[in-house]
Amino acid sequence: MSAREQWGTRTGFVLATIGSAVGLGNIWRFAYVAGDNGGGVFLIVYLAFILLIGLPLVIAELSMGRRAQGDAVAAFSVTAPGDTGRWRLAGWLAVLGAALILSYYAVIAGWALGYGVGAATGTLWTAAAAGYGGYFRAFIGGGVEPVLWQAAMLAAAALVVAGGVQGGIERVNRWLMPTLAAIIVGLAIYAVSLPGSGAGVRFLLAPDWSAFGRPEVYAAALGQAFFSLGVGMAVFATYGSYLPRGFALPASAAAIVAGDTLFAVVAGLAIFPAVFAFGLDPAAGPELAFITLPQIFLAMPGGRIVGTLFFLLLTAAALTSMVSLLEVPVAVAIRRLGATRRTATVAATAAIFLLGLPSALGFGLLAHIRIGGYGILDAVDAAVSNLLLPAGGLAIALFVGWRIERAVALREADLGGTRAGAVWLWLLRVAVPTAIALILLRSALA
Ligand code: PHE
Repeated sequence: MSAREQWGTRTGFVLATIGSAVGLGNIWRFAYVAGDNGGGVFLIVYLAFILLIGLPLVIAELSMGRRAQGDAVAAFSVTAPGDTGRWRLAGWLAVLGAALILSYYAVIAGWALGYGVGAATGTLWTAAAAGYGGYFRAFIGGGVEPVLWQAAMLAAAALVVAGGVQGGIERVNRWLMPTLAAIIVGLAIYAVSLPGSGAGVRFLLAPDWSAFGRPEVYAAALGQAFFSLGVGMAVFATYGSYLPRGFALPASAAAIVAGDTLFAVVAGLAIFPAVFAFGLDPAAGPELAFITLPQIFLAMPGGRIVGTLFFLLLTAAALTSMVSLLEVPVAVAIRRLGATRRTATVAATAAIFLLGLPSALGFGLLAHIRIGGYGILDAVDAAVSNLLLPAGGLAIALFVGWRIERAVALREADLGGTRAGAVWLWLLRVAVPTAIALILLRSALA
């Protein structure tokens, strides 16, 4: 058997992991969830969860992967990678979760691509006569068109993954992530310079303290923290498995978490100032990026260029996340079925495409299907973000916090013999499970 693939450089690894974390969650989802939940207060609660729950979990998940030097399932091996403990079930659940997220994530990424292409060619700007509400609903409900965009995004992700860890994933992230960072900073500077944008900056950064009393703000912030970091779905375990020993994990995890959070805040500074400058509603819900923003781009000076950049940015950010999600089942197929990387990629992509078809068609052909009041895509998203991701996080916290030997857990996370290590372990053992249990309980009762 040939040697397992590895990252080429530490920077390449960190950029690929940030590429996984930064995605639709930071731009599309962060903006509308923050908008729905009071802006500044949401941001404070969110930052607290990122630090106290997200960061410890990212360290834990990376350490599981590096320790196992195998796929998501091997990461949950108790003694040596390859044992057959019951914990491995958690690994299989995470693989299923990654596939499920990718199935509908590809649909939304396809919308972003469709908008980006429309913005570049100009059709997005001439179609506005009936308003972007009607445009968006016609677009996502339009028979096979959303399926074609979904397929295009999956094909792009498959191309990258088929290129391998270094030759595909690392290479693409190395140039894409710095480019995306430059674009989002440029968009934010432009938005903040618009007349009347100050209210938008205040909305995001100056909290309305009364919102602290709303329990749903906490649930939304935790769900967003999980989704945005992408922790709990074995992506970090899989990416961590390509690490040689010797890159200090806590520093890498801190860079990943900081990069993801900064990206979301800067995206907020690109979006809310523009929304307020044009007197629109910041709490527009999931439609913020696809209905409210195009309206703004149409009206702002240079808006066609800004709008094109925005949707291409959204598409590229989504692509690097899709790549990481696809790598999870691909790594399993390579390891367990002995498939080549290329065969594994084609098979996993095809299966995920089929899995996502109901989500893609859920606004048109299958619009009559409602699950608990939601359409198909939203029902899958709610199930994943509110249940599967937190459950995955809980499994990681319990596994590393309680199941593995304390000394092993600390050593594998490069935290042995440090005070930070003791704090980390107690956060994993007590704070993380408690917070997740409370939130899970609340969504069960709601
Ligand atoms: N973190 C990604 C985003 O913000 C989504 C994601 C979820 C990626 C789960 C990997 C695992 O868009």
